[in-house]
Amino acid sequence: MRFESAHEAQPLSSIRDAMGSTDEGAMNSRRFAAIVLAAGKGTRMKSDVPKVMHALANRPLVQHVLAALAPLAPERTVVVLAPGMDAVAAAVAPAGTAIQAAPLGTGDAAKSGLAAIDDLLAAQAVADVLVLFGDTPLITTATLEALLEERRRAPAAAAVVLGMRPGDPAEYGRLVLSASGVLEAIVEAKDADAEQRRIGLCNSGVMAIDAGHVRALVGAIGNDNAKGEYYLTDIVAIARRQGLPCRVVEAPVDELAGINSRADLAAAEAIMQRRLRAAAMAGGATLTAPETVFLSADTRIGRDVTIGPFVYCGPDVVIEDRAQILSFCHFTGARIAAGAIVGPFARLRPGAEIGEDAHIGNFVEVKKAKIGRGAKANHLSYIGDAEIGAKSNIGAGTIT
Ligand code: UD1
Ligand code: MG
Repeated sequence: MRFESAHEAQPLSSIRDAMGSTDEGAMNSRRFAAIVLAAGKGTRMKSDVPKVMHALANRPLVQHVLAALAPLAPERTVVVLAPGMDAVAAAVAPAGTAIQAAPLGTGDAAKSGLAAIDDLLAAQAVADVLVLFGDTPLITTATLEALLEERRRAPAAAAVVLGMRPGDPAEYGRLVLSASGVLEAIVEAKDADAEQRRIGLCNSGVMAIDAGHVRALVGAIGNDNAKGEYYLTDIVAIARRQGLPCRVVEAPVDELAGINSRADLAAAEAIMQRRLRAAAMAGGATLTAPETVFLSADTRIGRDVTIGPFVYCGPDVVIEDRAQILSFCHFTGARIAAGAIVGPFARLRPGAEIGEDAHIGNFVEVKKAKIGRGAKANHLSYIGDAEIGAKSNIGAGTIT
C-alpha cells in the first residue's frame, strides 16, 4: 500500500529536489521566522466568516499557507489575527498568534506580528522575516524556498519581494523598477499614476525582510495614502531612501493570486483542483475525465485506482490501490479498501468503511458502517450504523 497525498505530493517532492542542490550549512545559517497576515476584515467577500477561513479544496485558506511553509521549518510562525478570531486561532494551532487591535493596514499587521518574535530578533536568532498573506493560499514550498534562496544569494538586500505578472493587474500593487532593474518602490493601485498602472509586474504580498532592518523599516511606515492605511509595501521605498537594495523574484501567478472576492475564490479552486488531479495521476491513478473530479486537499488515492467522471471527494477520503470508482459518486469521511468497486451513483458518508474487493452499487448510501471484505450491496440501499460480514450479499431496497 503506497499513497500519494494529492496535495502535499507535488510541493514536497519539488522541495526535496530544490534542497538536494542546497548547501546544508548555508541553509542553517539563514534561519527565518514567518508572519502570516490574516487579520483583515475581508470586506469584499461579503461574509460573516473571516476570509482566511473560507475553504479551498475543503481546507481553510490560511491552512494552505501554513502547509506550504511547514517543510521549510521556520524558527517560529506567527499568524496575525483580529480580536475575537478564535476559530482562526484554533485552525492555525500549533502556530502562534498575535492580535492586531484594529485593521489599520498590512504594515500595522506586520508590526503586531513582529512584537511576537521580538525575542528572536533581539537574540539575532533569525536572519530573515518572511511575511505571507493568509489570502494567498496557492503558494508552494518550492517558491518560498526560491525566495529564501535569493536572500542567501543577496545578503545585502533589505527585502526580497515575490512578484508576478497577472493577466489583469487590476487592484494589485505595482513593482516599480529602476532602469537597471533594481526594485525602487511598490505602489498600490489606488495610489498609482497612469504610467505606474501600466506596469505588469505586481506585488504578491510575500516578502523576505532582513531581520536586522525589519523593525526600523516597519516602524517608519506612515499612512499618508489613498486608503489612509499603513502599507507594508512602503518598506521598499523606505529602504531605498536609506540606500538599501531591494530585489524581486518572479513566480507564476497561479501560485500568487490573492483572494479578495468569491469570484477570486472560485478561480483559485479551479487552479487547486487541477493541481490535485495532476498529483493523483502522477501517483498512478487513472482519472478518465479529470476536469469533472473534485478532490480535497487531504484526499489520499492509491496506485491503479480508476476514477470515472463526476466524482466528489469531500474531506477525509481514502481510496486504496486498485479500487474502481464509477461515475457520479459523492464521498465524505470514507475509506475504500483495495480492489473495491463503488458506484455509479453511490453516496459514502462519514464512517463508511468499504472492505477489500467489496461492491457498492447504484443508489446505495453508507454511513458509519463497515462493509466486510468481498461483501456486496449493489442496489438502492441505506446501510447505516451497521457491520456487514465478509462476502454478505445485501438485497435491493435493504435499510438498516
Ligand atoms: C495587498 C498588497 C498589494 C498586493 C496584494 C496581493 C498592501 C498595502 N497591499 O493588497 O500590494 O498586490 O495584497 O494580494 O500590502 N491584513 C491584516 N491587517 C490589516 C489589513 C490586511 O492582517 O489591517 C491581512 C489580510 O487579512 C490579508 C492580507 O493582510 O490576508 C492582505 O490584505 P488585503 O486587504 O487583502 O490587501 P490587498 O488589497 O489584497
Ligand atoms: Mg488581498
